[in-house]
Amino acid sequence: MSFRSLFFVLLSSLLSAATTAQSIEQRVDSVLRLMTLDEKIGQMNQFNGFWNATGPVPAEGNSLERYELLRKGGVGAVLNVQGVKEVRALQKIAVEQTRLGIPLLFGCDVIHGYKTLTPIPLAEAASWDLQAIETSARNAAIEATAAGINWTFAPMVDISRDPRWGRVMEGAGEDHFLGAKIATARVKGFQGTDLSAPNTLAACAKHFAGYGFVQAGRDYHHTDFSAYTLYNTILPPFKAAQEAGVATFMNAFTAYNGIPSSADSFLMRQVLKKDWAFEGMVVSDWGSIQEMMAHGYAASLQEVAELAALAGCDMDMESSAYVKHLAEAVLQKRVPEARINEAVRRILRLKFQLGLFDDPYRYCDEKREAATIGSATLHKDALDMAKKSMVLLENKGVLPLQAKDEVVLLGAIANDRTAPLGNWRVSADNGTAIPLTEGLQAYFPNLRWATGPMAWSGPEAFHAPIQVNETDTSGWAAAMQLAATSKTVVVALGEHGYQSGEGRSRSSIRLPGLQEAFLRELVQQHPRVVLVLFAGRPLIIPEDIRSKLGALLLAWQPGTHTGDAVAAVLMGQHNPSGRLPMTFPRHEGQIPMAYNDPTGGRPGPSSDVFWSQYNDLPNSPAYPFGYGLSYSKISYSKPKMQALPDGRKVLSVEITNNSARPATETVQLYVKLHANKAGIPAGKQLAGFQQLQLGPGAKQSAIFVLTAESLALFDANGRKHPAKGKVTAWIVPNSADETDSINFVLD
Ligand code: NOJ
Repeated sequence: MSFRSLFFVLLSSLLSAATTAQSIEQRVDSVLRLMTLDEKIGQMNQFNGFWNATGPVPAEGNSLERYELLRKGGVGAVLNVQGVKEVRALQKIAVEQTRLGIPLLFGCDVIHGYKTLTPIPLAEAASWDLQAIETSARNAAIEATAAGINWTFAPMVDISRDPRWGRVMEGAGEDHFLGAKIATARVKGFQGTDLSAPNTLAACAKHFAGYGFVQAGRDYHHTDFSAYTLYNTILPPFKAAQEAGVATFMNAFTAYNGIPSSADSFLMRQVLKKDWAFEGMVVSDWGSIQEMMAHGYAASLQEVAELAALAGCDMDMESSAYVKHLAEAVLQKRVPEARINEAVRRILRLKFQLGLFDDPYRYCDEKREAATIGSATLHKDALDMAKKSMVLLENKGVLPLQAKDEVVLLGAIANDRTAPLGNWRVSADNGTAIPLTEGLQAYFPNLRWATGPMAWSGPEAFHAPIQVNETDTSGWAAAMQLAATSKTVVVALGEHGYQSGEGRSRSSIRLPGLQEAFLRELVQQHPRVVLVLFAGRPLIIPEDIRSKLGALLLAWQPGTHTGDAVAAVLMGQHNPSGRLPMTFPRHEGQIPMAYNDPTGGRPGPSSDVFWSQYNDLPNSPAYPFGYGLSYSKISYSKPKMQALPDGRKVLSVEITNNSARPATETVQLYVKLHANKAGIPAGKQLAGFQQLQLGPGAKQSAIFVLTAESLALFDANGRKHPAKGKVTAWIVPNSADETDSINFVLD
C-alpha cells in the first residue's frame, strides 16, 4: 500500500472515529499490520538532526546516508531540528517519500524555554511556586511547538545531593517530595490537557534512574546506590511524572546494581511498564545503548542492541544500534518480534496522540511561529518567574536599595548578556539576556559600573569548556577605585551558564577564577557590598567573605530577563520569596549532603569524638534547604495538632506578616519518624508546604493533614509501609529551624 492510500485509510478512520484511547489503539494496529520488520525497526531509531548536536557526534557524522535511511523509513524521530522551515522539510521526506508516510517526532531539549529563556530549572524550583513552574513549562511548550517541536526531553527529575554535578541545574534539587510536586507541574505544563493541541508537546521524564548519584559529582561516572534509596528517593518524582501522564521516559547513562539503565529490564519492564502500567515510550539517552560497550557490559553493537530492546528500551537515540542490528536479531529469534511490535505500538501511539497522523504539519505554521516566538506574554511570564526564583541569603539592612542611594555596579557579570542565560538553550542565541547594567539603569540613570577582572574568555558554546581567567588582573584596580567612591557597591559574580549543565562537573564549587579574591578584597575595603550571585548550582562563598557582605542575593541563571528581574528584587519592587531547593555546603568536603540525610546511630553532639562529625568543620551547611529571607518580618505561632477519630492529624500554625510590604511566605512542614520499620527514615523529611500571600500586617493559617499513608516509606523490596509510632513535626520557614515542634503517635 502506498503512503497515499495509507493516509486515506487513516484519515477516513480519523474522521469517523472520536479521538478515544480505543480508536487510537485500533489505528495503531492498522498501521502496524502494514509495516515490514525494517520499517518497524526504523520507527525505533532516533537520529540527531542534521546540525547542532547535543552530544558527541558519531564517526559517520550527519551524512547523506541519514537522509537515505530516512527515505527508506529507517528513522522514526529526530532531535535538534528547529524552526518550521527545517521541520517541514524533513517531515515532508518522511510523509511523502517513505513507503508508509509515517510522520516523524521532532525532539528537542526545551529545558528552560525555547528562545525566551526562563531561569534554569533549579532556580525555578527555588520559587516553590507550582503554578508559576507549570506556566513556565506551558510557555516553553507554546514557543517550541510554534517552531515545529513536538517532544521535549524534559523534565529532568533526577534527585541529587552533589552540587559538583553540573546537571543539578536541570533538576528540582535534592528533595524527592518537592521534586515530585515539580515533576507534576512541569509535565502538566508541557503536555496541557490535550496532547493533540498544536501548542502542547510530549514531555519526557529523565533520566531513569539514578543518574543524579554519579560518584564524586563527576558527570557520566559510576553510580552505586541501594534499592532503599531507589524506592524512597529516586523513584518518587518519576512516579509523579508517570501519574501526571508523561508521554515518554528516557534512560540514564548510568547503572543500577551493575546493569546499565538502557539494558535494565527490572527498571523498564518490571517497575515502569508492569508495576506502574506506563503506556508511553522509553527512549535511550544519546548513545547510551552503544555506551554499554564502554561500560564493559557487552562487547558488540549487536549485543547491546539486543540487550536494550529485550529490556524494554523502545527507541534508540543516536547509537544506530537498532537500525543496524535488530532485524537480524529478530530473524535469528534472539529478539521476539512481539517485543518489536510492543515498542512500535508505543511509538505510533504517541504519534497518534500528538495528532501527527491527522496532520503531520500540525506544528508547522509559519504564521504562528512568527507571532509566538518571543511574544509579550512569554516575556512577561519569564520576568515574573525570574523574580520569584531569586533567593535572598543575607541582608544586613542594605537591601532593598533606594533610588536615592549612591550605588556603583561591579563584577564580571555586571554587563554580561550571555553568562546569565543558563546552559540548556539549544535554540536561544548568545547575547540575548538583559544585563544587570540595563536593569539598574532603569532606577539609576547615571549608574557607574566597571567589570573588574575578567572571569572567562569563552568559548561560549554548549560543547566546549569555558576558559576561566586565573591570571589577568586588568580592571581590578579600577573597579576597587570606583567602589571607593560610593556608599553602596553591587557586585555581580558567579558562574557562566556554561559552567553548569551536562558535562560541566566542577571539583571546586567556589567562585571561578579570580572572582573570590576580588570579592574578598572588596568586602575588606567596603562595608556595604551586595553580592548578586549567578550560579547553576549551590556555590561556596567562604565564611570570612560571607560574614562581611552587606547582602547576598542568589540570582541563579535567570535567563532572558536577568537584569530587570535582579533590579526589581534589589529595589524592593519584588519582595524576595525564593527558598533553596538544595543545601549550600560550607565546604566541598561535606558533599554529598542533604537536609534529609538519616542521622546515623551516633548523631551527637558529644564532648568526645565518638559521634558523627568532622574534626575540622561543623556538620551544618552554609545555608540549609528551604532557606531564604524576604524584606518582611514574618512570625510563626506555636504549632497545634488535632487528632481526628479516623487517624488523620491536622497540624496548623498562624503566620503573621509584621511588615508594611506584601510578602510570599513558603511555610514548610517537616517530619521525623522515630520508630520506622521499612528502613531507617530521613533525619527530617519535607512532608508538605504552602505558599501564603500575606498583605501588610496580615495573619493567615497554614493547615496540613498527615496520615500514616502520606508518611509511608518503601522497604528495599519496594513494599510500602505506612508510618507507625512516634513522629516529630515542625512547621517552619526552613529545614534547619527547630524553634517549635510537635510530637504525636501514628498507630
Ligand atoms: C544527553 C542528555 O543526557 C539528555 O538529557 C538529553 O536530552 C540528550 N542528550 C539529547 O540532547
